[in-house]
Amino acid sequence: MSTTDWSSKKLFIEDLDVAGKRVLVRVDFNVPLAREDGAPRITDDRRIRASLPTIERLVSGGARTILVSHLGRPKGTRDPAASLAPVAKRLSQLLGRPVAFADDCVGDAVAGKVEALGAGDVLLLENLRFHAGEEKNDPEFARQLASLADLYVNDAFGTAHRAHASTEGVTRHIARCACGYLLRKELDYLGKALAEPERPFVAIIGGAKISSKITVLERLLDRVDTLLIGGGMAYTFLKSMGREIGKSLLEEDHLQTAASILEKARARDGVELLLPTDCVVAEAPNAEARRQTVSAEAMPADMMGLDIGPETAKRFAGVVLGAGTVIWNGPMGMFEEPAFAAGTRAVAEALASATE
Ligand code: 3PG
Repeated sequence: MSTTDWSSKKLFIEDLDVAGKRVLVRVDFNVPLAREDGAPRITDDRRIRASLPTIERLVSGGARTILVSHLGRPKGTRDPAASLAPVAKRLSQLLGRPVAFADDCVGDAVAGKVEALGAGDVLLLENLRFHAGEEKNDPEFARQLASLADLYVNDAFGTAHRAHASTEGVTRHIARCACGYLLRKELDYLGKALAEPERPFVAIIGGAKISSKITVLERLLDRVDTLLIGGGMAYTFLKSMGREIGKSLLEEDHLQTAASILEKARARDGVELLLPTDCVVAEAPNAEARRQTVSAEAMPADMMGLDIGPETAKRFAGVVLGAGTVIWNGPMGMFEEPAFAAGTRAVAEALASATE
């Protein structure tokens, strides 16, 4: 086991005796797919490659490996466009061995396929999100998944922040649950960045809600030199300072939290907390709605903030370029809509240049 603080409390894949055991592995195979002549093509297979060390270790250890993942957001319905079948094919090419595929992830037929696995065999189950129970973290769905296996490995770093049935619920039913190599690598990196950051240490926090990131924000304030806040949560901060935020996202219940985080930052010597100074606002969260860039001190009452503005993006990018360590969590705006993606893109480009 590693000697870092966090890791001494965790079980790792190498701590498991996997020979002959059914091992349920949560991977993140949420890969981009394009359609070519009606057939799906994986346009970037990095997430599949990233899971290979864990799968190869299980195969060589004689485990009966059962892989589970989500793909896209089919919202509890069976959507053929979000099937993991193309991933099974690609994984098989990368592993150089057959990968069986089951067209569901729970039920008798799946249990039958699991029972038929021999030592070293690999089975990929169909998209977990074809069942609403996955995202709801439904205890019965979690129990059904858990019933397929003796051991559990989480290697889905990209999904580790979601408390879903396959990431959280399932661990309540399987006694030995461990981190895979990818998860460990990322946690080691994060642990090192937090323990011995190269300074200036900059954290960029965005996304919709303060409520889901209170602890992260508070802990980071004890460590970082600069905290950049963007995304939907920035508007609750601005409101707590008495600003007009129009129809922007607001967490009324967390105005006090926002105010106390700002207060805590002010009280920390040498810590700078930066909020947007300009924003892209629109009448509605879609590209067709009338939109404009305004100062964060003059947001129109009938519009909503959907991205940081160009002045903020430039300022945030400058901070990122001068950073020794950067931790980034959450987008700067509603980036799924290209009209509101410029701020997130500018920060991402600065990060890419800073780490070139
Ligand atoms: C991702 O691609 O960010 C992860 O796979 C998580 O996907 P989600 O945001 O749909 O939960």
